Amino acid sequence: MKRVFAKRLFSVSACLATACASVPVLAADEIKVGLMLPFSGTYAQLGEAVEKGFKLHIDEQGGRLAGKTVTYVRVDDESEPSKASDNVNKLIKRDKVDVIVGTVHSGVVMAMAKAAKSSKTLLIIPHAGTDEVTGAMCAPNIFRSSFSNWQPAYGAGKLAVEKGYKRIVTVSWKYTAGEESLRGFKEGIKGSGSSVVSDLTVPFPNTEFQALLTQISALKPDAVYAFFGGAGAVKFVKDYAAAGLGRTIPLIGSGFLTEGVLQAEGAAAEGLQTTLHYADGLNSEVDKAFRAAYAKAYGAGPDVYAVQGYDAAQMLAHGLKATGGDLGKQAGIVKAIETMTVNSPRGAFKLSKAHSPVQDIYTRTVASGENRYTSIAAKGVGSPSDGCAMAAR
Ligand code: PHB
Repeated sequence: MKRVFAKRLFSVSACLATACASVPVLAADEIKVGLMLPFSGTYAQLGEAVEKGFKLHIDEQGGRLAGKTVTYVRVDDESEPSKASDNVNKLIKRDKVDVIVGTVHSGVVMAMAKAAKSSKTLLIIPHAGTDEVTGAMCAPNIFRSSFSNWQPAYGAGKLAVEKGYKRIVTVSWKYTAGEESLRGFKEGIKGSGSSVVSDLTVPFPNTEFQALLTQISALKPDAVYAFFGGAGAVKFVKDYAAAGLGRTIPLIGSGFLTEGVLQAEGAAAEGLQTTLHYADGLNSEVDKAFRAAYAKAYGAGPDVYAVQGYDAAQMLAHGLKATGGDLGKQAGIVKAIETMTVNSPRGAFKLSKAHSPVQDIYTRTVASGENRYTSIAAKGVGSPSDGCAMAAR
């Protein structure tokens, strides 16, 4: 059943973080990773950072896991749900990858989870936060190295309460991730006396924010909670400041609002407080080593997206080690990942029964181009895993 047993000689690009060289590899001696990520569109930067983080860990292992050379098949999913089934099925059926790593957009990952579940291909999700893949869609062969949409938003709710914001307006893209983020935020403020007075949305990936900013200005809330990421976050933060709202109505958000995009946001982001499972200045030994290695490989600092890619690779490496690289022994790989402690730059974490990280959510404040660690907004939080009945294996 597994292509890995085929004896075939071919040439691959064995890529270190900095250089690529063509080397012959026996098919039986390789682990073929399908990287399905957005490399274009509003989330392109997120996809690129995930890939860099993933490859950094693999390169640190000499480009080999459990004695096998890691090779890649790369697909740009464009954050386009309508193309997702075709894209993932090509990876599984045509390219016969051993494991899929992806993606960023919650709508796209749903199609990937469906295909992974029915084909039993190992899937590690290095970003997309939809609660459902570790809820009703959960499966033994599906893991997440990132977060659930609920988590940072729940932390932001706690931050809003701590700040004493009573009347809050939420703004987000109208798709699964935005909706789940609002659910988390509302649970974070529950029972505090704070409330959401209006949920404003724009279709994904629209960045025409003017009408929405006019509404905020008329509603005069105590604060605004925003869910946007990548290029859309840059546009929103800049438009919010340009409209003069930053001076009168504090803007908070899930940390994606300022993550990996501070240079582009410039002065408009200064002082913003957000919540996320990573921050600058965590200063653990693991984080310091990761940041130094990342900077050496890529000449720039990492962000949460790179951390999630790095941790996806750590999870794969640990699983494969348990079976000596035998992909046919999937139950052994699954058990090893389920029970491991991931030694992440964000802080060590374990996975929930539904295979999603249980982790701390940090409050961060933008200062001098960094999302600086301020405090812990929510400690050791899991995620909703509604309807997850893990199939026996
Ligand atoms: C998602 O679609 O789950 C998603 C995408 C980008 C983010 C956060 C969540 O920054």
